[in-house]
Amino acid sequence: MTKGIFISFEGPDGAGKTTVLKEILPSLRKMTENEVLLTREPGGVSIAESIRDVILDVKHTNMDDKTELLLYMAARRQHLVERILPALEKGSLVLADRFIDSSVAYQGYGRGLDTAAVTWLNNFATDGLKPDLTLYFDVDSEIGLARIEQNKEREVNRLDLEKIDMHQRVRSGYLKLAAENPERIVTIDASRPLNEVAEEALLVIQRRCLKK
Ligand code: TYD
Repeated sequence: MTKGIFISFEGPDGAGKTTVLKEILPSLRKMTENEVLLTREPGGVSIAESIRDVILDVKHTNMDDKTELLLYMAARRQHLVERILPALEKGSLVLADRFIDSSVAYQGYGRGLDTAAVTWLNNFATDGLKPDLTLYFDVDSEIGLARIEQNKEREVNRLDLEKIDMHQRVRSGYLKLAAENPERIVTIDASRPLNEVAEEALLVIQRRCLKK
């Protein structure tokens, strides 16, 4: 058993979860005496960041879907062992920008790989560790894609170049996951202005994880 609290942030591209995370971080730091660790997948540690560069390289248009899945899993394992588990053992509040649900939504529902196999691989890579809470930022795919186009500062990656139907499949995958895991996944309507979305995210975290 770990002592810390583990929260993952999920959503289709353009949902704004990374922006919301940055926005609520100072408030979260004030709400808890424990250390707060913000990290991201794929990446978070050197080996996983190198794997991230391979996965997201726009030149790698010929990457096989199963290769892509296995690379995400390899990055996840290294990130978990090197960063997430030690932080949880110290009692930290760990905020992960993407985790297991991204693989089910993107490689499972999005790419069409067997979702049971993706779930099995997730369990293998994480030894079954699940976040205590997952915030799913839900946004219509057209709005999400329009936001990506507007945000010129964000790096464009290989997955951003996918067509709208891939983004729609990813979103319906997330909605299915949220319906199947109501005790873990809380859906937040991310089509609203940033301050409203951030406020709701903070309230959910406070109510579910930081109540004294
Ligand atoms: P990133 O630039 O971090 O995008 P975002 O800010 O939207 O999180 O790129 C991560 C991309 O990797 C994103 O398109 C989702 C995808 N992804 C998967 O397809 N499967 C996974 O298991 C993970 C962790 C991410």
